[in-house]
Amino acid sequence: MQLLDGKKLSAEVKAEIKVEVDKIKANGGKTPHLAAILVGNNGASETYVASKIKSCEEIGFKSTLISLPDTTSEAELLSHIQDLNFDEDVDGFIVQLPLPAHISENTIMEAVAPEKDVDGFHPINVGRMCKGLPAYISATPYGILEMLERYKIETAGKHCVVVGRSQIVGLPMSILMQRNAYPGNCTVTICHSRTHNLKEVCQSADILIAALGRPEFITADYVKEGAVVIDVGITRVPDASKKSGFAIKGDVKFDEVAPKSGYITPVPGGVGLMTICGLLTNTLLSSKKAIY
Ligand code: GUN
Repeated sequence: MQLLDGKKLSAEVKAEIKVEVDKIKANGGKTPHLAAILVGNNGASETYVASKIKSCEEIGFKSTLISLPDTTSEAELLSHIQDLNFDEDVDGFIVQLPLPAHISENTIMEAVAPEKDVDGFHPINVGRMCKGLPAYISATPYGILEMLERYKIETAGKHCVVVGRSQIVGLPMSILMQRNAYPGNCTVTICHSRTHNLKEVCQSADILIAALGRPEFITADYVKEGAVVIDVGITRVPDASKKSGFAIKGDVKFDEVAPKSGYITPVPGGVGLMTICGLLTNTLLSSKKAIY
């Protein structure tokens, strides 16, 4: 079993981006600028956004955080988005999800200008990704591809099973793993809550991507000997022994699955850290006008 070490890889990717940013600045170019909008006070979202902003500082990006109360109306949020769409200094921005129930996530995602949509959530970016055109690839799928590539994991002809059909992970991941590229060229099965014989389908996976958001759901009996196991889950579960009062759990029961797997990502320290690299990479691409 080999650990897919998100901590080590994300440090490498960030160091590479910093070298580019330093060069841009030394040549008098514009500092890449990422903005983030956070609505409400969801503890997990606050942590994720703080870590995105901190990463910007580490690599020399400019960042702006717009924190809004959970009483913010959809119209008010749309107005902030318009301001960022027209702000020439901002290369890219994100609206952290989930949003309060009174705001439509689809309306918000469509309001972000596609050329500043560094989350890759706008239908134009999703559509362009499906067609293999230059597009912002959303951060978590990007992070997973980067891990597979940097560990030189064979993907062509393999059976990749994606568990979970979310718009931001499962669906794009299934599309990327079947495309004619590396990493890709897999035979892909996408599973969800209505899938029959889920365990048997997972047992046939050479590459198993767990993105269903149910802590420790994937146990050893779901996994083929030697499979590549990618755990996208990050759920907070109450844990009185921790200072924070919670522990972070993945979708995979790591202790029993790890000895059986060929490669596996830990949680924390796996896909989550690579996700931020995806966002930073997209922001750099935007500042270089490399996609649009
Ligand atoms: N919520 C969970 N993951 C993400 C992400 O990648 N981007 C945004 N904007 N919100 C999220």
